[in-house]
Amino acid sequence: MGHEITIAIDGPGSSGKGTVARAVARALGYAYVDTGAMYRSVALLGLERGLNIEDEDQMASLARSLDIRFTWDGDVLRVALADQDVTRAIRAEAVGQGASQVSALPAVRQALLDRQRELAAAGGVVMDGRDIGTVVLPDAQLKVFLDADLDERARRRHEEILRRGETTPFEVVRSELHTRDERDRGRTVAPLRPAQDAVIVDSTEMTIRQAVDRVLSLAQERRRVVDTGADPQ
Ligand code: DC
Repeated sequence: MGHEITIAIDGPGSSGKGTVARAVARALGYAYVDTGAMYRSVALLGLERGLNIEDEDQMASLARSLDIRFTWDGDVLRVALADQDVTRAIRAEAVGQGASQVSALPAVRQALLDRQRELAAAGGVVMDGRDIGTVVLPDAQLKVFLDADLDERARRRHEEILRRGETTPFEVVRSELHTRDERDRGRTVAPLRPAQDAVIVDSTEMTIRQAVDRVLSLAQERRRVVDTGADPQ
């Protein structure tokens, strides 16, 4: 009953897009693709192998041969590279910064773009990242740009770090997040920005539940439009 749509969720680090995208995918019975995990995986492999992660040829070759698999383990999305579980390793701060660096390399983006489009080809998918609505899936029926103030995002990231049993001062977390934002927004290829037809959801004052409900109601609305054929696209 009803068409399966494609949902693109973009936004800066710690805006809650991963958590929201996951919950929306589960509620709708859709697949979920975490494109940030792909960039993080390329960076992790580069760092583990002691490569220069700003070397475009080497990083693109890692991206082209990336053997990545996503599987649900209860509510946890596990990420594996070949047979190595990297769910936790890719969340390290150094890997996040590395991901932001490799993601500015055009050949790396091109390699991952093809794979991301393949993963969304069947529809019924929620994909999150920085350029999903603008570049990867410009025809997605629903595009959401999930934002939040830097201070609030830093607070969320800091809490997550403390929960993992690690300690990093709040100011350091905030400044690293800011550096990554600037790099992601300022790069020439596929910079972080809302698509023209994206719905901007500011989650600064929202709970996760509220943000999820907002996206679910937007999805319902879009499905109705697609089902009744009233879609102007
Ligand atoms: O969402 P995240 O923190 O896991 O993403 C890690 C980095 O990957 C982020 O700093 C920018 C990059 N990225 C990107 O450039 N394009 C995407 N679609 C997803 C992530």
